[in-house]
Amino acid sequence: VILRASFSLVFIFTGLEGKVVSFPTETATSYVELTPQHEEELEAFTICLRFNTSLTRSYSLFSFATSGSNNEILLWSYSQSSYSISIQDNEALFSIPNGWSTTGWPHFCVTWESDTGKAELWLNGKSLGTETLRRGSTVKSNPSIIIGQEHDSFGGSFDKSQSFVGNITDVHMWDYVISSCKIKSARYGGSYAKGNLIDWDTVTFHKSGNVIIEPKVEEDYY
Ligand SMILES: *[C@@H]1O[C@H](CO)[C@@H](O)[C@H](O)[C@H]1NC(C)=O
Ligand SMILES: *[C@@H]1O[C@H](CO)[C@@H](O)[C@H](O)[C@H]1NC(C)=O
Repeated sequence: VILRASFSLVFIFTGLEGKVVSFPTETATSYVELTPQHEEELEAFTICLRFNTSLTRSYSLFSFATSGSNNEILLWSYSQSSYSISIQDNEALFSIPNGWSTTGWPHFCVTWESDTGKAELWLNGKSLGTETLRRGSTVKSNPSIIIGQEHDSFGGSFDKSQSFVGNITDVHMWDYVISSCKIKSARYGGSYAKGNLIDWDTVTFHKSGNVIIEPKVEEDYY
């Protein structure tokens, strides 16, 4: 009988100011888990992030799972011109209009509010339109928040064909819908556009697998 002990070391870190998280290879094991600053049900939220990838298949950009739903919040890319927001497994699709570019380091924001169910996706400070999702619902608390992979169960069950390969930076999350001015400011790294649930600059996180934390090259982002 061969007994195999499998364990991994988990290092807890704080703060990613001026840093880019890089997932250089396709795996089912590389991810960064972000810890929110407080844990409560959400009646609204905003998530912003910036990324750089040459993937042509679909992939997860931001996976927020709870014990009740693996896709409590999911930001997903089908292709360079098609993205979706899911809330509790209800999905809204957004297409990038002709002539809008997602090459380089696109900056995405997603906003949602329970009252109207209005979900909106923003690319480089401009709205891609609105959809209605889960009106009247609340986003549940105690999430597992992961970049680099997509949850198929709470806290795990990753599939490398859904993983992110590339670089991500400036991930921020708020417990309210931020103004369009603030979305534009977040795009340019404005100092007052820091999330109150996740602030990239000070976030507590742990990483697993092949994840490299590199300094930002500022001129690349605009
Ligand atoms: C990713 O960013 C680098 C600069 O950091 C840029 O040279 C490259 O073209 C970008 N990749 C894609 C696929 O847009
Ligand atoms: C981003 O990704 C590319 C390869 O995909 C890599 O060469 C580059 O160093 C990464 N980091 C930054 C900060 O652009």
